[in-house]
Amino acid sequence: MDKNSPIGIFDSGVGGLSVVRQIIAELPGESLIYYADSANAPYGSKSSEQVIGFSHDISEFLNNMGAKLIVVACNTATGIAINYLRDTYSIPFVGMEPAIKPAAKASKSGKIGVLATANTFETEHFNRTKGLHANNVEVLMTIGEGLVELVEQGKATSDYSKELLIKYLMPMVDEGIDHLVLGCTHYPFLLPLIHEIIPPEIQIHDPAPAVARQVRKVLEEVGELNPGNEKPQSAFFSSGNRTVLDMMVENALDSRVPPRIK
Ligand code: DGL
Repeated sequence: MDKNSPIGIFDSGVGGLSVVRQIIAELPGESLIYYADSANAPYGSKSSEQVIGFSHDISEFLNNMGAKLIVVACNTATGIAINYLRDTYSIPFVGMEPAIKPAAKASKSGKIGVLATANTFETEHFNRTKGLHANNVEVLMTIGEGLVELVEQGKATSDYSKELLIKYLMPMVDEGIDHLVLGCTHYPFLLPLIHEIIPPEIQIHDPAPAVARQVRKVLEEVGELNPGNEKPQSAFFSSGNRTVLDMMVENALDSRVPPRIK
């Protein structure tokens, strides 16, 4: 492993590209390998054993590709599998952290909303974060049933996505939330619609920028931050149909995405 080794990143599908975007902005000198497990998405409806199995297989692949650090760009897989992965591999893992802490701290209404998958709400990881950082507020939790699938199908801005988002978000808005936490990496791709639906004074929290800063911190600690002298490269793999992945890499990523190796 050296500084020029790539950062591995994976998600149940294309959602983790919302994290890749922030990593490119924070660390433009790094090479990246992304793995979208679109054949098995959504993880939200799978058992813990299955999610651990998928996460293991993908980490094995990324480790064999020489990844110096792996980002679990999936809240569900972080909650279920990251402890197992850290116990199994010697390279560092960085996971998703629901942005409950900053939302709870800044809330004036005393009510915050979280939109996530059913599996994420059940994880000890999520409940520990909530228990530690949200005792001063009421946390309204809504399962975004069907939203991951719509983003996977390239339908993030469809009428049906809007219909579902209205159904999920408006009850929380009516209850008086002043902060909304996006607890799934697919959801930032729904932001154009979310902004159309909720009042502008409700602050939206996406943990991806904080995750990118954490990647920098960990790489600094282990002495493997790439100073940017070498030419960074990127590669994007999918276990399923890669049409949407390719479309989103072209359209939704920062224009500074490193040259792709096909
Ligand atoms: N992007 C994943 C997450 O952040 C989606 C989970 C799923 O596939 O259900 O949780």
